[in-house]
Amino acid sequence: MCSVVGYVGHRQSCSLILDGLSRLEYRGYDSSGFACIDTQTRHLGCTKAVGRLSNLVQLLQKEPINGNVGIGHTRWSTHGIPSERNAHPHFDCHKKMAVVHNGIIENYQILKAALQGEGHLFSSDTDTEVIVHVFEQEYAQTESAKEAVLRTVEQLQGAYACVLILEDQPDKLIGIRKSSPLCVGRGKNEMFIASDVLAFSGQVEEVAFFPQETFAFVAADAVEAYDFLGNPVSLFFEKLDALWITAEKEGHEHFMLKEIYEQKSAIYKTVASCSSLGASLWEKSGISSDAMKAIKRIKIIGCGTSWHAGRIAEFFFEETTGISTTAALASEFRYRTFFPESDTLYIAISQSGETADTLEVVRMLRQHGQTVLALTNVASSTLVRECGGFLLTQAGPEMAVASTKAFTTQIAALYWLSQRIAYERGKITQEAFEHAQDALLVAGEFLENGIDSYKHQIFEKLASFYANFETFIFLGRHISYPFALEAALKLKEIAYVFSQAYPAGELKHGPLALVDDQTPVCIFSHPDPAIYQKILSNAQEVASRKGRILSFSFEGQKELQTLSEHSFIFPTIHPHLSVIAMTGVMQILMYAIAKARGCEIDRPRNLAKSVTVE
Ligand code: F6R
Repeated sequence: MCSVVGYVGHRQSCSLILDGLSRLEYRGYDSSGFACIDTQTRHLGCTKAVGRLSNLVQLLQKEPINGNVGIGHTRWSTHGIPSERNAHPHFDCHKKMAVVHNGIIENYQILKAALQGEGHLFSSDTDTEVIVHVFEQEYAQTESAKEAVLRTVEQLQGAYACVLILEDQPDKLIGIRKSSPLCVGRGKNEMFIASDVLAFSGQVEEVAFFPQETFAFVAADAVEAYDFLGNPVSLFFEKLDALWITAEKEGHEHFMLKEIYEQKSAIYKTVASCSSLGASLWEKSGISSDAMKAIKRIKIIGCGTSWHAGRIAEFFFEETTGISTTAALASEFRYRTFFPESDTLYIAISQSGETADTLEVVRMLRQHGQTVLALTNVASSTLVRECGGFLLTQAGPEMAVASTKAFTTQIAALYWLSQRIAYERGKITQEAFEHAQDALLVAGEFLENGIDSYKHQIFEKLASFYANFETFIFLGRHISYPFALEAALKLKEIAYVFSQAYPAGELKHGPLALVDDQTPVCIFSHPDPAIYQKILSNAQEVASRKGRILSFSFEGQKELQTLSEHSFIFPTIHPHLSVIAMTGVMQILMYAIAKARGCEIDRPRNLAKSVTVE
């Protein structure tokens, strides 16, 4: 997604804003721009560049613009191609005010046509530009910035986090938030505004999040905030967790590699944090122990990798607690007929806690009075603020666009929760619950041991071999099917290889026609002997069509290993935890293939880390 950063204070805004943008570049990166009120001329100066942020940095090094109040932006285009013309900031007709924006203005075409009819001159193809022209119009009429904001937000439909800078109010910025996240960082006689606290990069110790549908005048020493009805609101400043602002690669070539290696410890921290909750779990999760006992259905909502974690967790909840569980894609759930049910627990999963599709479902569910538990990695996220309760994963900052440790910690937390609910409902003993927590840590060990055992083979031999194929099929059964979905997603997003995951049983209903010696078939086995036998039959179907099998198998599964061109072998473990054991090797393999294909890895083309628009 796009990122906005603003600064107002006593220092030069340019370097601080560029530094902030570089920390947020993971969110979107096809063009960027900077504007500030020039200290000498007192007018707005602006520079924009297409491509990486480094292009903007170079331009500003050659021709600096000095000013203590400025705004900046990195863009991930939605409306209008990546170009200098479409890069933010966007200006009013007289170049007296400018805006940077993250989100989508859904009714921009209608607004633009009306404004053009009144003589406004537009310079871009973006939806964003209407914001500053609507504001210009209203400011001219009301001569009050507050009134103008109120009239502007009345007209804008969609989601937006934006920052306005006005030449005639050179000591402040205006931040406006509807749905998309926006926060303000407070320093000593200086303030930052940004889409994500990471932008503050060790510059401030306190941060406040704009509540939904609010705006604020942010000066160096004060913040004056209002809701969309014009009522004053207080922003609540809290201390920033240093961990979240100092994420570095620590000697690894990519964040993704570092994050893959962090998984054992992240699982450990997640289990420790969950179990430290004790009886306070029910209070934190917003559902009492009695209500938990009465639950008849669990519905999990998420997108992408978080949805895959939810699909995996269906097996945990159904088989451990006996509660019927389904995981739905947020983007689909929202547009289906909704049946409110009082005995359903909703779990909204999101690493970032800012994914627009997931948040919109949460808002709809809450409007219907449903119980929604957030499972997220970011304690300060919108998801935590908008759900009735929350459970946190402890993955730490995940910087690579492709999710790795967030996935395993989501699985660990969901597995832990299923065991905890089963214990609360009298399905398992305390001893069994404690054993399950230990087993999670063992699964984390297996994950890391798997990486250690196979990394040389993968980097030295397998990656260059598999990097030559343009299509892959992934097969799994039972819990290894959603795991196959996740593996296929990883290969698509970081190696740009078309890959399709199927439930292995579906093979003969169509996809078998695709099997030939040009399409590797990656089979994820299952420790359960009955399911393994079925997977083996599927592997035989592939082998007899000259398919090249790469398998993830468990000790003793000799037949599958023999049918495979390559096989990774894992210690036998409970089926529910088998996916954790396989995760490290799966991710390293996809990473190594992407590297062998010369891909960008941490910042795949067209993708953004935090998808804050629907
Ligand atoms: C894939 C990936 C995405 C995210 C998805 C949801 O590697 O990272 O598919 O899982 O965009 O993001 P969150 O979990 O932040 O809601």
